[in-house]
Amino acid sequence: MKLLVTGGAGYVGSVTSRLLLDAGHEVVVLDNLRTGFREAVAPDATFVQADIADAGRVLTPDAGFDAVLHFAGLIAAGESMAKPELYWHENVVKSLALLDAVRAAKVPRVIFSSTAAVYGNPVELPITEAAVKAPTSTYGSTKLTFDLALTSETFAHGLAAVSLRYFNVAGAYITDEYEIGERHDPETHLIPITLQAAAGKRDKLQLFGDDYPTADGTCVRDYIHVEDLARAHLLALDATVAGEHRIYNLGNGNGFSNRQVVEAAREVTGAAIPVEIAPRRDGDPATLVASSDRARAELGWTPQKNTLQAMIGDAWTFYQKHVA
Ligand SMILES: NC(=O)c1ccc[n+]([C@@H]2O[C@H](COP(=O)([O-])OP(=O)(O)OC[C@H]3O[C@@H](n4cnc5c(N)ncnc54)[C@H](O)[C@@H]3O)[C@@H](O)[C@H]2O)c1
Repeated sequence: MKLLVTGGAGYVGSVTSRLLLDAGHEVVVLDNLRTGFREAVAPDATFVQADIADAGRVLTPDAGFDAVLHFAGLIAAGESMAKPELYWHENVVKSLALLDAVRAAKVPRVIFSSTAAVYGNPVELPITEAAVKAPTSTYGSTKLTFDLALTSETFAHGLAAVSLRYFNVAGAYITDEYEIGERHDPETHLIPITLQAAAGKRDKLQLFGDDYPTADGTCVRDYIHVEDLARAHLLALDATVAGEHRIYNLGNGNGFSNRQVVEAAREVTGAAIPVEIAPRRDGDPATLVASSDRARAELGWTPQKNTLQAMIGDAWTFYQKHVA
């Protein structure tokens, strides 16, 4: 297939581009490099430095794209509370412009990077796709809004759409040939922050709250290896159906506590990683764990690298060579 990958210079988009190319697809990456890195773009992809709002320049009716994989966007929930107008503009207004270009060019398929943040505080665990959607951040609201826009588009115009709702993405794609991983700045995700502490870039790691109703008192989150996540995109491409919007949660189904993450990182890195317990943060649910039964049943997806050791081990390999 001929594929447009928005956000292909970012973490998840660059790993997925690699797997798409290795599966024989043709990939055009469109990224404005706001948070991404030129060198993360797969060398055998065509790179267009542009904003998704201008995607019509690339998605012309005669360009012959078979699908758009839409990763581009802003991803920091905390920042989205301080600058909501930025998130509505970048994640919704510009994504709707991209959707206009998709429609004008008659591209038949869209795969969208949605998020667990659309669910907010869970009423029931594990979280299924049917769970109440009540985002607690502007970030989550913007992602849910574009999910809803995709649903309308499938009804009205016959688009085949898949939203993949990622839980916490971790790890790096490490092979003999490639090392592709996470370089967010500022970093807001627990595993890379833990690795910064292991590398001595921070003097300690703060954990927010140790009095939650969980086994060790710290928050429990569901982590998914970026390689497993990227593979789900290839399966989703094959599962698209005209006029349908399919939605899949992607997580391990196993939660890991913040303390378990630190313990695993100590094991992998051999570093002491001093920890300080800080007060709870507003709006942090005790436990967020996905049910990915639908993805397993309908996409045939099975996560292969579902241990913290695998995720942190690959993240550490990448961190030491490319970030530290
Ligand atoms: N990383 C996670 O844990 C996680 C979890 C759930 C969902 N997601 C979703 O996955 C997607 C990718 O996340 P990531 O971690 O790879 O983020 P990232 O910041 O590494 O990548 C995003 C990429 O999009 C590009 N971009 C942003 N706005 C753009 C615009 N207007 N036009 C063109 N390019 C633009 C950036 O330059 C960057 O390369 C996002 O949509 C995010 O909401 C990520």
